[in-house]
Amino acid sequence: MAYLPASSRYQHMTYRRCGRSGLQLPAVSLGLWHNFGHVDVQENCRDMLRLAFDAGITHFDLANNYGPPPGSAEENFGRFLRTDFRAYRDELIISTKAGYRMWDGPYGEWGSKKYLVASLDQSLRRMGLDYVDIFYSHRPDPHTPLEETMAALDLIVRQGKALYVGISNYSAEQTTEACRILRSLGTPCLIHQPKYSMFVREAEDGLLDVLEQEGVGCIPFSPLAQGLLTDKYLNGIPRDSRAAKPHGFLKESEVSENRVQQIRQLHALALQRGQSLAQMALSWVLRDPRITSVLIGASRPEQLADSLRCLEQLALGQDELLQIESVLASDS
Ligand SMILES: NC(=O)c1ccc[n+]([C@@H]2O[C@H](COP(=O)([O-])OP(=O)(O)OC[C@H]3O[C@@H](n4cnc5c(N)ncnc54)[C@H](OP(=O)(O)O)[C@@H]3O)[C@@H](O)[C@H]2O)c1
Repeated sequence: MAYLPASSRYQHMTYRRCGRSGLQLPAVSLGLWHNFGHVDVQENCRDMLRLAFDAGITHFDLANNYGPPPGSAEENFGRFLRTDFRAYRDELIISTKAGYRMWDGPYGEWGSKKYLVASLDQSLRRMGLDYVDIFYSHRPDPHTPLEETMAALDLIVRQGKALYVGISNYSAEQTTEACRILRSLGTPCLIHQPKYSMFVREAEDGLLDVLEQEGVGCIPFSPLAQGLLTDKYLNGIPRDSRAAKPHGFLKESEVSENRVQQIRQLHALALQRGQSLAQMALSWVLRDPRITSVLIGASRPEQLADSLRCLEQLALGQDELLQIESVLASDS
C-alpha cells in the first residue's frame, strides 16, 4: 500500500542543535547497522522506517559496509527511499561512512583519499542519491596523514557529494587535530559519532569536553549497548537476539552473569520511574546537553516505539543518577 506519512510527525519529537552548526537533529535517530541487510525481512525494514519517519525521526544513519552482505543496507534503504520517501528527501538527514574494510586490495578500507572518495561514490549509487547530508570518516587511520583524510572530507563537500562531514571513533586528541585541520580547510566538523552508553563511558574522559569546546555535535552509537540495556537479556539469551545471531556483533560472552545482575538492578530502577530499561538508558545518555541525538538500532517496530517513549520522561533526578552510578560501580 502506498505510504502517506503521518501529518502529526513533527508534534512529538524534540530537535537539538548539532554543536554550533545550523543543523538540528532529532533527539532519537535510527541506525541501519543491523536488521536492514538482504538477510533481513524487507517488510519489517520498511515498517521500521515508516514508523520512524511518522514519529519525527528525520535522521537515518548508514555506512558502506552495513548489511550483511556489506552494502545491502544502503541498497535496501535506497529502495525504500524511492518507494516511500522520494517526496520527502528535503525532510531527511541521511548519513553514510567509510573506514572499515569494504573491498579487496589496498584501496578498500581506512582513510586514504582514494578510498573515501570511491566509497562515497559507491554509496551514492547504492542509495540512488545525488548527495548525502553527512559523510563520516568511520575510523582514524594510523597510516594515513590526518591532513589527507580531512582533505578528502573537504573535497567531498566541495564536490557537492555531502553537505556536512563528521568523524567516528576518533579519540579526544585526534578529534582536536581533525577539527583544527577541517576548520583551516573551511569545512568545519559537524559531528562526532562515539560509542557511549551507561556501560561504555570512555567518551567522558575528555572527548565530550573537546566536542563542546569545538562546537561539534555528538551522536553516540549503541546507546543501548547493542540491546544489553533493555529487558532482552533478563532471563538468558533469546533465539532472535543479536547475541544469538551468527552475524550479530554482540558476543554471547558479553552477556555475563555479572552484567545480567546489573541489568536486573537497572531494570528495577527503570520500573520505579515508570520506564522500560531501554527508555531509561536513552534518557540517561540524553541527560547531557552536549549530546545532540541518540543513535539507536531496532529489530522490530515495537522496539522502536518503546525506545521513542523515552522522550516522554527525559529528566533524571540526582538521586536516580546516584542509584544508577552505584549499580554501574559494581561492574566486574
Ligand atoms: N560509528 C560506528 O563505528 C558505529 C558502530 C556501531 C553502530 N553505529 C551506528 O549506531 C546505530 C545503533 O547501534 P546499535 O544497533 O548497536 O544500537 P543499540 O540501540 O544500542 O542496540 C540496538 C539493539 O537493541 C535491541 N533493542 C533496541 N530497542 C529495544 C527495546 N526498546 N527493547 C528491547 N530491545 C531493544 C535490539 O536488539 P535485537 O536485535 O537483539 O532485538 C536492537 O537491535 C547503528 O545502526 C549504526 O548506525 C555506528
